[in-house]
Amino acid sequence: MTNATILVVDDEELIRWSLRERLKRDGYDILEAGTGREAIDRLGEGVDLVLLDYRLPDTDGLSVLRELKKLDPDLLVILLTSFVSVETAVEAMKLGAYHFANKPFNIDEVSATVARALETTRLRREVKQLRENEARPYTLRAIVGESDTMDALRQMVAKVAASPASTVLLTGESGTGKDLVAKTIHYSSARASRPFMNITCSALPEQLLESELFGHERGAFTDARMQKRGLLESAEGGTVFLDEIGEMVPALQAKLLRFLEEKSFKRVGGAHDIHVDVRVVAATNRNLEEQVARGSFRSDLYYRLNVLPIRLPALREHPTDVPALVDFFVDMFNREFKKRITGVSPTASNLLEHYAWPGNVRELRNIVERAMLLAEGQRLEAHDFGVLSTSPGSGDPFELPATGVDLEDLERSLVVQALRRSGGNQTRAAALLGLNRDQIRYRIEKFGLTTTP
Ligand SMILES: Nc1ncnc2c1ncn2[C@@H]1O[C@H](COP(=O)(O)OP(=O)(O)OP(=O)(O)O)[C@@H](O)[C@H]1O
Ligand SMILES: [Mg+2]
Repeated sequence: MTNATILVVDDEELIRWSLRERLKRDGYDILEAGTGREAIDRLGEGVDLVLLDYRLPDTDGLSVLRELKKLDPDLLVILLTSFVSVETAVEAMKLGAYHFANKPFNIDEVSATVARALETTRLRREVKQLRENEARPYTLRAIVGESDTMDALRQMVAKVAASPASTVLLTGESGTGKDLVAKTIHYSSARASRPFMNITCSALPEQLLESELFGHERGAFTDARMQKRGLLESAEGGTVFLDEIGEMVPALQAKLLRFLEEKSFKRVGGAHDIHVDVRVVAATNRNLEEQVARGSFRSDLYYRLNVLPIRLPALREHPTDVPALVDFFVDMFNREFKKRITGVSPTASNLLEHYAWPGNVRELRNIVERAMLLAEGQRLEAHDFGVLSTSPGSGDPFELPATGVDLEDLERSLVVQALRRSGGNQTRAAALLGLNRDQIRYRIEKFGLTTTP
């Protein structure tokens, strides 16, 4: 790490000397200025912190402070002053001074204040950097797919992100992108610089989930030795993502509902209401309506969550996006594995487009990852996607059990499975069985199957 650079601004040579000697020993690089003008001129040399005398020959400290902050709003300034009125102090704080040191100052105190100030900015910069890194992958463009379905999804996400506080319910099968969309909503919204907090409701027992979410007071239960803030408090100004909301127990559902309606809650064992400003994004791969009908999910909470529902389509509902997604993941894993795979062969592409993707985009991602790890050539071939294809000539695709089979039953079962896997799409079901449309229609009629999944 390079040393921090400190600019010492004072017209008295002796004071500059004593500060310089001490701070040099502390390991900083020192620049000096005797006037306000000089201080502003030297700022361009890369300054992290300024020790600024309030009385300067050409101007006063406040004017210099104002100038410096205009040039670099993040600059740390510590004012050195012998007497100061309350108004001056307030004004200096408003202008963004970090601290005052009274003259004559104690050099150890100045040294400690400088160290603290630099540490604070270092941490602040680090958090900012981490947030930016975290946010980078979650722009609207991260939601890949050119189909109308995906266009509509992106438009909806953009609208929701722009509406500052609304609660959102994401539904969709596993692997359809609920996590991705929740983060994109957060990082494309005005809340982006505030925390995104995430909790999986099924991962914790009831009591733990409640105190994770709402926090607890000291002594609220046996293990509560200290007061603890919950996720809702820690996420102030940001977003809380409640994943697998369908698994939340009814008692907590009631507490969550109250929070959504009143924007306030009590910590476990707490008496007073805590008000926070967070957006709640909930997600589930369950059918909540069914759960409401069965009585395992509160209908009032369902209606409250369902004001802005976003349904993520299963991949088999937008198979035309498969090639774009494959390209996206090929690029991604090229970077990650330092490979130069150029793409996918036509046969492989066809195979991928006709597969039913029960595990949705996650499955596609995993399959591409595996293929890229195993591939020997520059291009991904059908056999690199071994899990999807049964390679011809490598023995019998099905082995006849010793007890034999009923061929009619087997055929019926395969047709049913193909239809189920393709979401009832006859063309794709046919492709899975190596049949054409007429051949599959014939079998659907023969077996009296309905094609609505
Ligand atoms: N449209 C998309 N574009 C790019 N990547 C996507 C898309 N949809 C999903 N993914 C990626 O697929 C993977 C699975 O998505 P995600 O984790 O968001 O699914 P999920 O709906 O939360 O699943 P689960 O219900 O199992 O939690 C992630 O790596 C995600 O980034
Ligand atoms: Mg998820």
